[in-house]
Amino acid sequence: MNTTLYSMLPSFAGIPAPIQTIPRVGSTPVTWIPVKSQESGFWAKLEGFNPGGIKDRPALHMVRCARRRGQLLPGGAIVESTSGTLGLGLALAGIVYGHPVTLVADPGLEPIMARLLRAYGARLEIVTAPHPIGGWQQARKERVRDLMADLPDAYCPDQYNNPDNVAAYATLAAELVTQVPWVDTLVCSVGTGGHSAGIFRALRQTFPDLKLIGVDTIGSTIFGQPARPRLMRGLGSSIHPRNVDYRAFSEVHWVNPAEAVHTCRTLAARHYVSGGWSTGAVALVADWAARTSPPGTAIVAIFPDGPWRYWNTVFDDDHCMANHLLEAAPAEHPDEICHPAEREVTRWTRCTAVIDPIGATA
Ligand SMILES: Cc1ncc(COP(=O)(O)O)c(C=O)c1O
Repeated sequence: MNTTLYSMLPSFAGIPAPIQTIPRVGSTPVTWIPVKSQESGFWAKLEGFNPGGIKDRPALHMVRCARRRGQLLPGGAIVESTSGTLGLGLALAGIVYGHPVTLVADPGLEPIMARLLRAYGARLEIVTAPHPIGGWQQARKERVRDLMADLPDAYCPDQYNNPDNVAAYATLAAELVTQVPWVDTLVCSVGTGGHSAGIFRALRQTFPDLKLIGVDTIGSTIFGQPARPRLMRGLGSSIHPRNVDYRAFSEVHWVNPAEAVHTCRTLAARHYVSGGWSTGAVALVADWAARTSPPGTAIVAIFPDGPWRYWNTVFDDDHCMANHLLEAAPAEHPDEICHPAEREVTRWTRCTAVIDPIGATA
């Protein structure tokens, strides 16, 4: 990384320049994943080519916007809850703009992530018990609230509800417009809702008939299923983030961890491209969309990160066997339900009634 000092960098239009130049974030590649033949398949946008993953974009954007608005003063602390990926982005933003970063994670944080986050200078706190209703995510949010109370000048990006998280993905959409001939269907995993909302909103300016398919994990409450302990991280939630743009989705699919593992491993072996839980789940659904859509339908799937973080989960036979994740290949087609409240799903299931469980959207 270039270590040019702040004083040597120019300041544009009154916006304080970063302390260091930013390693390349964005301009990530797109690759064609064939399904039945070279003619049928989908485009995968490989966000794992960012230094930390897809969340480098919103982390830098949220911090820049907060600095511009005066919500984050020079040298002020950043405090946030993360399952890992945003933590990497915030650690990067902290280095680039000169802010100490405290991250609150839970015991499911992979050891490689904990070590990387600390190596990048972040202070890491691990909560010890889940919240009785809101699970680990709520426990993390409550710890962030306590830390903020002790640090009056600290800034919490609040990735679940901050519109800057959504707006950050305009760059990704702009890249796609130059990388693929056109887009009919966008397939995104959903955690905070940031990238699905942001990419869809911006891409629809160019492709007004664009359809958005949301991909969630079983045991997630985002689209109205009951909250359960979850193996898959990144996608899914035990709370209801307001950044999820429910009206944008034409349909939602819930995927289970064994289905995601099988897809991740197949992707790696066939295409030398892979990722973790969210990538596996998204690829499973994008593959199905390619097989079942009219010929010529252009499908883009967002792969949020690469495979490395998942060496001891998705790609570890012992972990997978202990959790019964290697027993069967996914079905050819998802089950279908008419409404998320129809029943609790435990395998790949599709629903075209997309509802906001705590809002008015039905
Ligand atoms: C690896 C991974 N995939 C998918 C997601 C979901 O993205 P979003 O929060 O933009 O909905 C996240 C969010 O943290 C993630 O870390």
